[in-house]
Order: sequence, then structure tokens, then C-alpha cells
Amino acid sequence: MSTLFRLDASIRTGGSVTRAVADTLEAAIVEDLPEAHVVRRDVGTFPVPAGLWGAAALAGFVAAEERSEEQVDALRVAAELADELVAADALVFAVPLYNYGVSQHFKTWFDLVSTDPRFTPGSTPLAGRPAFLVTARGGAYGPGTPREGWDHATGWMRRVLEDLWGLDLDVIETELTLAEVNPAMAELRDLARRQLLESHEKAERIGRSDGPGGRRSVRQGIGDDGTAPRAAAPGRIVRVAARVAVVPRAVA
Ligand SMILES: Cc1cc2nc3c(=O)[nH]c(=O)nc-3n(C[C@H](O)[C@H](O)[C@H](O)COP(=O)(O)O)c2cc1C
Repeated sequence: MSTLFRLDASIRTGGSVTRAVADTLEAAIVEDLPEAHVVRRDVGTFPVPAGLWGAAALAGFVAAEERSEEQVDALRVAAELADELVAADALVFAVPLYNYGVSQHFKTWFDLVSTDPRFTPGSTPLAGRPAFLVTARGGAYGPGTPREGWDHATGWMRRVLEDLWGLDLDVIETELTLAEVNPAMAELRDLARRQLLESHEKAERIGRSDGPGGRRSVRQGIGDDGTAPRAAAPGRIVRVAARVAVVPRAVA
């Protein structure tokens, strides 16, 4: 049995390009691997509380028995998030560009995961696993465009997912997504629609293990024989509720 982990960071559900392209990708992967479980974490609509990171980061400098309740709670949440990752055989990250930078919800999630001992610098528990980054930008940032070099998100995400975590990463990028709603971009609509179509086609193609352009590594990462590296009920796709549970302590 196999597990696909999917993270979404778009702050919207309706009309989200990253969610739509990730849906196509997920469907292609699952169709190819019908025995797969899909575990989802939605930091776009259920963000990880930002304060957890500070508590978890500073807990690392405190002896275990001297940690505050806040620090213990933060480390527990970090461990839960890390558990989801290490249990995954393949991973999908659907993260848009916001304000020329990385989604704060993705960064908060990443920072918190990084406090878990399994993800400290130099540790690569996910090395070599097949992964996909699906990103979208309202404008265009390619060579020769006025905003060339202004996308400070995609490079960072590639850096941490590929170079730090060692994932075997494919990236699907869709630009000009604001052309449909921004009258000033009306003449770019045809180009935007073509790009969106190409992103779905790429997602469909690389989500499959076989066929032209397919990622054989998805099946290899998951296990060609379909045997279960991790326990799971056969033939079920599981969607896990995405809310981070921070249980409030009773006030004495
Ligand atoms: C608050 C906010 C900030 C944004 N900042 C940028 C930006 O700096 N550059 C850009 O090209 N698009 C920007 N966009 C547009 C999004 O990148 C674009 O709509 C993308 O498709 C969002 O992903 P989604 O479709 O999955 O929701 C921004 C959108 C929002 C809501």
C-alpha cells in the first residue's frame, strides 16, 4: 500500500489554479495507483498557528524536562506534521505566489516541520522520494518581462524541497492567472488559457508512472509490487482533515 501526501496553500478554494492542477495530478497518480492513500493537509484554509514555530524553535535550547507546556505542545504539533511527511511515498505541494514571495502559510508549516529532530539541517528522511511542486502566479516573470526576477517564492521552494530535503522534484508552473479577472491583462487571456491547459496536460502526464513523459519514479518510490511499506486499508483513498489541533490546556 502506498501513501500520497498533498499540501495545499492557496487561501481560496473556488477558482484556485494550484488546487485545480493538483487535482489533475492527484487523479493521475491515484488512477495509476488505485491502492494509494491520499493524506491531505490544507494550510491555506486551516493555517498552522504562526506562534507554534517560535515556541518549538526555542524548545530546542531547553532541556526536555524544563520545557514549558507551550513548547511541549508546539513540538508535538511539529512531530505530527513531520509524521505525515515521513509516512508519505510521494508528495504534492500546491503553493501559489503571494506578494512576490512564498505563501506565509507554507513557510510557517515548513518552519515548524523543520524544528522536528527528523528535519534538522543535514537530515534527509525524504531523500529521493518523488515529489511535485504545483505553483501559480497572477503575472509573468520569465526572461525579458518587466518583473523578471521578482518571483522570490519558486526558487526558495525548489531550494528547500530539492536541495535541503532531497526530494526528486518536478515543478508545474502556471503564470498569468490574473488575466481572466484583470481588465488590464485582457489581451493576455488566450496565452493564459493555453498555459493553464499545458499545466493540466503536464500534471496528467507526469502523474502517471508509465507512458511518454511519465514519472516512473512515482511507482518506483511507492513500490512496483504494490506491497505495503506502510500499514493501510486496501483500496481506500483517505483524506485526512487538515486542521492542526492545538488542544487548549485547562486553566487551573
Ligand atoms: C494576497 C494576494 C497576493 C498576490 N500576490 C501576487 C504577486 O505578488 N505576484 C503575482 O504574480 N500574483 C500574485 N497574486 C496572484 C496569485 O498568485 C494568483 O491568483 C494565483 O493563481 C493564486 O493561486 P490559486 O489560483 O491557487 O489561488 C496574489 C494573490 C493574492 C490573493
